[in-house]
Amino acid sequence: MSRRGAHLAALALLCADAAAAAGAGAAAPGVVAPRGLTARAQADYMLNCMGCHLADGSGAPGKVPSVRDSLVRLASSAAGRRYLVEVPGAAQSRLSDLELAQVLTWMVRNLSAPGVPRGFADFTAAEVAAYRRTPLIDVRAARAQLLKEPP
Ligand code: HEC
Repeated sequence: MSRRGAHLAALALLCADAAAAAGAGAAAPGVVAPRGLTARAQADYMLNCMGCHLADGSGAPGKVPSVRDSLVRLASSAAGRRYLVEVPGAAQSRLSDLELAQVLTWMVRNLSAPGVPRGFADFTAAEVAAYRRTPLIDVRAARAQLLKEPP
């Protein structure tokens, strides 16, 4: 099997795992998501986001900002969470509201260098639906402003 074939086979396995878990529905608050949900979120990240953000979230200097230090800070305020959903790469992706909520949660939990605070609340489909359709006018200015404010 070619390298590409092996890569696709690995993705297919991830997807099959996710499909099996999808029937289990979303995890209740405070309950750790079943492994399949995490696997699907990771596969969605790999297919839709990793091309720009890279496997570890470090991005490309000058083009795609590293999310390794920003996600936890941004996800800890209402305005910051809104920004994380509204940012074009997220809002305009082909992911459903639930899938995007799970990818954002996966990103915060897996790409954050400082680690995730105990009280971190996973993103929900309702939260994504509420913010997704309002476009950000000036993404860079919004990001700079949010990261300037004390956490
Ligand atoms: C074509 C490149 C590209 C793709 C693909 C992409 N992004 Fe992004 N992303 C960016 C850039 C560039 C920024 C910085 C803000 C801006 O200019 O839009 C960003 C910022 C973000 C941020 C804000 C993080 C911060 O620290 O400001 C989040 C969250 C995010 N992207 C999520 C996603 C998700 C989820 C996906 C996949 C569904 C995705 N992105 C796909 C380029 C991309």
